Amino acid sequence: MAKAKSNGFFCKECGHESAKWSGQCPACKAWNTMVEGPPGPGPVGAPAFAGAPSRPVSLGEIGYERHEYIPTGFGELDRVLGCGIVNGSLVLVGGDPGIGKSTILLQVARNIAAGGKKVLYVSGEESLQQVKLRAARIGPVTGELYFYCETNLGRVASAMEEMLPDMVVIDSIQTMYCDFVDSGAGSVSQVREATATLLKLSKGLGIAIFIIGHVTKEGVVAGPRMLEHMVDTVLYFEGDRHASYRILRGVKNRFGSTNEIGVFQMEENGLAEVKNPSEFMLSERPRDTSGGVVTCSLEGTRPILLEVQALVSRTSFGMPRRTAAGVDYNRVNLLLAVLEKRCRYDFSGVDAYVSIAGGVRANEPALDLAICLALVSSYKDKPFPAGTVVFGEVGLSGEIRAVSGARQRIAEAERLGFATCILPKSCLKDVKAGIALVGVESIKEAVAGI
Ligand code: TYD
Ligand code: MG
Repeated sequence: MAKAKSNGFFCKECGHESAKWSGQCPACKAWNTMVEGPPGPGPVGAPAFAGAPSRPVSLGEIGYERHEYIPTGFGELDRVLGCGIVNGSLVLVGGDPGIGKSTILLQVARNIAAGGKKVLYVSGEESLQQVKLRAARIGPVTGELYFYCETNLGRVASAMEEMLPDMVVIDSIQTMYCDFVDSGAGSVSQVREATATLLKLSKGLGIAIFIIGHVTKEGVVAGPRMLEHMVDTVLYFEGDRHASYRILRGVKNRFGSTNEIGVFQMEENGLAEVKNPSEFMLSERPRDTSGGVVTCSLEGTRPILLEVQALVSRTSFGMPRRTAAGVDYNRVNLLLAVLEKRCRYDFSGVDAYVSIAGGVRANEPALDLAICLALVSSYKDKPFPAGTVVFGEVGLSGEIRAVSGARQRIAEAERLGFATCILPKSCLKDVKAGIALVGVESIKEAVAGI
């Protein structure tokens, strides 16, 4: 049979469709993002929402729909999702290979099945035996949890229509293919069509579907960028593969706030929640060494204490080196320049390394003051007082600017037994605390204490 003729191209970033190929997308101006679209059915149809009339309606005609929230068995995950799993929602879980996506969703599937719900786990990556081995590590399974090894999405859809489960896990979207799309599984058009099919199923049948998506280094083949627009919720699982903790971050959520994080730890029998991330992050903190300053980062509504570490040492080559791990490299350079200009430190002959202990990433301006104090502490080789927490944004004139959530940050420091908190002076209004609060207005004033 002759190959069907291609029916156009589309941009994998913004979804813009065009009859001819171009190097730059005419709509979003991204380069090298136009790819050949699927022949046959063509554009993605609108999802068939359950019970929605196919005509325009006024607001008065729309009844309230009460979402049912299913708790996942993990308080950390429930918070990131909003309140739990919403029926009929489509959730994308992205992350590097081996980070624990399959593990956490198998654990959630197991918890929900134990609570009396029907769950279908579709694995296109691993054989049933491999899934069984993983399940054996996690613990005994009770209730209606079914496994299906299949990559043909048509068959998966039929199984879903027949079974009508409450929750489905698709592991992973890159392995699924639709018969009517003429390209290999994992290609952008396959991923797009597969997601559109799952979207229709979840909205039409009211099934909560979790899609696992791989993120390649370039983020190209996987195409989760485009997927993000199609799904209700996007969660990213991140963390250092070599460290045991994992952070689940919400980046889009139609049912709750974004930027919430959940902290987990990989153990022998699956992932366990870390209820006290601050304690966990500070557990290996060295005492009486210079260059370490504890700060409080606010992720969504959750404060986490972190240790910023700096090492300043004499340069052995002509060009001083600067490296930053976990914090923004350009921000570190900017803060070094502020310290040079406003406090008259000379960093031109020294290397400066800044990192966050434990390999966490935090790109919040509230960390500025801690980075500066860690640099100065290491520069002078004087330990920073151990019982002190620091936060505040540093401006280019060396002024210390207010940050949001001062109250939560102070409360977290107090909860973990810190005695003093150095913070922007303007944050002192309307905060009360059981620990000593030291308001500072300029970087000069803050470094004077070291
Ligand atoms: P996995 O869920 O397969 O990752 P992904 O689906 O994101 O690719 O997790 C794989 C890693 O987790 C693997 O290195 C083994 C480890 N692991 C544990 O340490 N304990 C466990 O109980 C399980 C199931 C996995
Ligand atoms: Mg997996």
